[in-house]
Amino acid sequence: MNLCVVILAAGLGTRMKSKYPKVTFNVLGQPIVSHVINAVKKLNPFKIITVVGYLSDYVINSIKSHHNVENQIEFVYQHEQKGTGHAVMQAKQILTTLNPELTLILCGDTPLITSDILNNLITTHQNNNYAATVLTTTIENPKGYGRIIRNNDNTLLQIIEERDADLETKKITEVNSGIYVFSTNMLLKVIDKLEDNNSQNEYYLTDTIKLLNNLNYKVGIYHESDSTLILGINNRFELLQVEKIMRAKINKMHMLNGVTILNSDTTYIDLNVEIEPDVTIYPETYILGNTKIKSGSIIGPMTYIINSTIGENVKIFYSVIEESEIKNNVIIGPYSHLRPQTVLGENVHIGNFVEIKKSKIGDRSKANHLTYIGDAEVGCDCNIGAGTITCNYDGINKHKTIIGDKAFIGSNTSLIAPIEIGSEALVAAGSVINKNVPNGALAIERSQVVIKEDYVKRRKFKK
Ligand code: UD1
Ligand code: CA
Repeated sequence: MNLCVVILAAGLGTRMKSKYPKVTFNVLGQPIVSHVINAVKKLNPFKIITVVGYLSDYVINSIKSHHNVENQIEFVYQHEQKGTGHAVMQAKQILTTLNPELTLILCGDTPLITSDILNNLITTHQNNNYAATVLTTTIENPKGYGRIIRNNDNTLLQIIEERDADLETKKITEVNSGIYVFSTNMLLKVIDKLEDNNSQNEYYLTDTIKLLNNLNYKVGIYHESDSTLILGINNRFELLQVEKIMRAKINKMHMLNGVTILNSDTTYIDLNVEIEPDVTIYPETYILGNTKIKSGSIIGPMTYIINSTIGENVKIFYSVIEESEIKNNVIIGPYSHLRPQTVLGENVHIGNFVEIKKSKIGDRSKANHLTYIGDAEVGCDCNIGAGTITCNYDGINKHKTIIGDKAFIGSNTSLIAPIEIGSEALVAAGSVINKNVPNGALAIERSQVVIKEDYVKRRKFKK
């Protein structure tokens, strides 16, 4: 489409009561403004111009972590926040150079906006040859919003801000959403004519409507009945409402795709998560970031998974999985913690109170109880006994542990890294091992057990 988008995101968002910019608050794993960008990208604009000001680097970085900004996204700076009209003035130069037919303007704080609504707005604009078209909605309590004053022919005469409105105007319940499409040459005709002679001494973008009317151009209205989809987030209570709506939508999408979710209210799935059919998700579960889960797996209850790949028919319950790769048929939990860069081969069992960090565990190996495995490479078909610890840290550096295929590590063993345990080696329970163990060897480090027959009886007799 011959379209440029301008997203206004220079303000702080006072009512969030935060030092961080409102548009960077997280909803389903992405900053609020990133959801707006997702929606407008579907319109294929050739530029998305984002106006930044307050903590601009912070806003830019939070966008960059979710979008490739090389070509399509450009940032312009508004150093002082002198109003929405003043913010759009900062994009004037780019708009003049690119000269798109249409310019869509919206705020960075409306994450529920959909490309369908924006398309309807643009279609209304084009079909009627309007100079500009404003997205409006009707709400019971319009306090704080700009009020819509219609002409007799139902086109838009002007928008009056709450603070500049008289009592009669304040009764109007149709409000400005802050989303507009302009024919770019019309926008450029009036943007420099804005004045700041209002109660807030700001340059209001909304005043462009009055100016266009004065020049005898028609401004259209596209009215959306679902106000929740188009009104911005202003405080943390509204942030939660929006998050709930979006989360319910995402969960429903997964359910319709064949995923069983036992309690949608306590299942938190981020936007970019991919889940195959026939996965079952038990309550109180978080599946976040770029996680992918294959068919047949059972996740939860009470499980937290972030940026991980989970294979087919995996069972994970009461556990935390971070940046890990889990192959097919693995069983994890309860109470396991897989830290970043863990890779579990097929049919691995990781059990109660086991922590694994930056380690590879080969197919069919088991670590079922109370173990720490860090910086290790464990082969296939190994048994890691209860209480086994890889002592990977000497207080200064981290060291590696390598365990060969079919090795058996007895319970309560300390393996002092760097160390290699050969394949089919046997380490006796209770050993502290600080030498490499060759293939097939037994390593035992243990003092002799002393048995004194009838000792207890003799001790009593002495009294
Ligand atoms: C604006 C509209 C109002 C509409 C409402 C919908 C104006 C004058 N009023 O009011 O009619 O009902 O949105 O939410 O436009 N921003 C900047 N630079 C600035 C000022 C604002 O980038 O100098 C950005 C903010 O970060 C925010 C957006 O513009 O994302 C809206 O600004 P805000 O001050 O919230 O406008 P409202 O008073 O809500
Ligand atoms: Ca606002």
